[in-house]
Amino acid sequence: MLFRSVLILLLLIFSVSGGSTVADAAEECNFFAGSWVVDESYPLYTAASCPFVEHEFSCVKNGRPDLGYTKYRWQPLDCDLTRFDGKLFLEKFRGKSILFVGDSLSRNQWQSLTCMLHSTVPNTPYTLTRVGDVSTFTFTEYEVKVMLERNVFLVDVVKEEIGRVLKLDTINGGSAKLWEGIDFLIFNTWHWWNRRGPSQPWDYIQIGKEVLKDMDRMVAFEKALTTWGRWVDLNIDPRKSKVFFQGISPSHYNGTLWGEPRAKSCAGQREPVAGSIYPGGLPPVVAVLKATLSKIKKSIHLLDVTELSLLRKDGHPSNFGLGGRIGLDCSHWCLAGVPDTWNLIFYNLII
Ligand SMILES: *[C@@H]1O[C@H](CO)[C@@H](O)[C@H](O)[C@H]1NC(C)=O
Repeated sequence: MLFRSVLILLLLIFSVSGGSTVADAAEECNFFAGSWVVDESYPLYTAASCPFVEHEFSCVKNGRPDLGYTKYRWQPLDCDLTRFDGKLFLEKFRGKSILFVGDSLSRNQWQSLTCMLHSTVPNTPYTLTRVGDVSTFTFTEYEVKVMLERNVFLVDVVKEEIGRVLKLDTINGGSAKLWEGIDFLIFNTWHWWNRRGPSQPWDYIQIGKEVLKDMDRMVAFEKALTTWGRWVDLNIDPRKSKVFFQGISPSHYNGTLWGEPRAKSCAGQREPVAGSIYPGGLPPVVAVLKATLSKIKKSIHLLDVTELSLLRKDGHPSNFGLGGRIGLDCSHWCLAGVPDTWNLIFYNLII
């Protein structure tokens, strides 16, 4: 009798929390554990088939001589990923909206998705507009919008008399109009939390009534993410919107972490790390992120791309990005490249 009640209770719990295709797909296989294999059918698009790749990600156009890094496909350990079909995506999600919110790594993934879609349906018309912090790529025949909002902290930065105040407790001054009603939301924040000096875009940090000159950045990140989670819990209707977190995109500025102590950056790296495990381990922020996400009541799907991206020390623009020869970018990713895999996994989770 007791056993039966427990069973019924369990069934109830599962029928309430389950039922979404995202959960089903994720339960079948861990897409995020695997290794990189050479696939001559890659890349998924080129500079010619995606003419709007932005300068900072267009490594080939910027003169990167090696192309081997474009030829890797992510192979999960326990299953295969379905190949990306842009036409199927647009048909299935006709009339729907996808919004990336975050820093330039969101822009990296947003660009990748628009390229993946455009290059599989090159003849379908599109418009690309930018108003303030929001860029919108629309596939007009399908009424599918793939959007990007630049918003590096997710919580507010407000200009006040004392200066710019980073407010760990508030989001969009309490009204996140743009985010409401979007079908797929993919959030990201992390890289800007460690900025100091002239590129730090705030002067004070506020929690509740307390205004501080600075604080432990990991703690600040955790508090902001908790505030964001509260927003999700209060405002997201799971029947309408699916919420994803983009995960921590790793940088490669220390070769010791991949067993090459003389390498001071990703420059000259032409191959991924072999196997499934990055020797240097995960950045500590990943554990903080996972612990914080686990406290949010509404379902949030983490695109847990850190380990698979850590293996791709060869995937960054290095001297073929924004700064050109004198620049050194081991944080963003060349396109075509690693973010295509983030999107391929996103596709496999929702299709
Ligand atoms: C690189 O990583 C190793 C191992 O964690 C560490 O000991 C070293 O200080 C790091 N080097 C730099 C320049 O950060």
